[in-house]
Amino acid sequence: GQPPPNIDEDDCLLEYCHLFSVQSAQDKVAFIIGGGSEIGFLIAQVFMRHSCHMVIASRSLPRVSTASKKLVAAKGQWCLPLSLDVQDPPTIIVAVDEVLREFGKMDILVNGAAGNFPCPASTLSFNAFKTVLDIDAAGTFNVSHVLYEKFFQDHGGVIVNITVTLGSWGQVLLIHAGAAKAAMDAMMCHLAVEWGHGNIRVNILAPGLISGTKGFQQLGGPQASRILHFLRSPLQRAGNKIIAHSALFLASPAAFVTGAVLVANGGMWLTSPNN
Ligand code: HXC
Repeated sequence: GQPPPNIDEDDCLLEYCHLFSVQSAQDKVAFIIGGGSEIGFLIAQVFMRHSCHMVIASRSLPRVSTASKKLVAAKGQWCLPLSLDVQDPPTIIVAVDEVLREFGKMDILVNGAAGNFPCPASTLSFNAFKTVLDIDAAGTFNVSHVLYEKFFQDHGGVIVNITVTLGSWGQVLLIHAGAAKAAMDAMMCHLAVEWGHGNIRVNILAPGLISGTKGFQQLGGPQASRILHFLRSPLQRAGNKIIAHSALFLASPAAFVTGAVLVANGGMWLTSPNN
């Protein structure tokens, strides 16, 4: 079939085709960090379309509040917007306590907060390197840790981390992101092993170039020609935010999957010469 149409804005889909049963996430509670925009927002939409209760969080309360209004208008069910900073554990603890007060449980955590920008290693400041690791890697640990302590350790749960396949090969201008994503890959493996006995599954969804995202726009600047070889993938096109459905699969109890990376990048890693 034809590729799905691009989704450039953070608007709710006007037409929706259920990929899974409408009840496939019924009465589950999903906590989506970074759910106010881009792929996180699409994941929130997809989960809500499958009858999931929704909490979306980011550093910006106005952003998640606006996103929540759109989701409620499209689906007619409650979506709780919360502000937290994944680099600041006390803010995570306050947010998780509020989710548990509101819904009494938590089933699915999607770690979708990320910070990135292309920059040569030689001019990347020490603080810039640290900031990206703090948001992506430490942030993922911080939120997972709080969720485990407050709920998952006694009830089980599912964690889906959103990354990019930059952790196991070289790529120009992205040393900070590559280091952060490698840490996320490793943490996923370790947590899947350490928490598996408690019925906690930990997986990664690794989108490639996805149209309508900040990561994609960043490639349109002066650095574009150095990075656009990414597009030399078997499918020869960028992906689309509709790959958010992959998160629903990973979150589903039907997926007897833990410690896995679901790569949604059009097979880019097979052909890109610098990967
Ligand atoms: C070089 C930069 C920079 C840039 C920021 N810095 N932008 N250095 N080039 N374009 C430096 C700053 O100078 C500062 O270092 C340090 O990074 C921290 O910057 P702050 O602005 O103080 O930090 P903060 O407000 O926390 O912002 C974090 C951020 C920002 C990562 C810099 O871009 C952000 O919040 N982005 C969130 C959204 C985002 O990036 N999404 C894309 C994710 S895409 P000094 O030394 O001056 O103090 C993704 C997939 C990767 O993750 C796909 C790759 C193709």
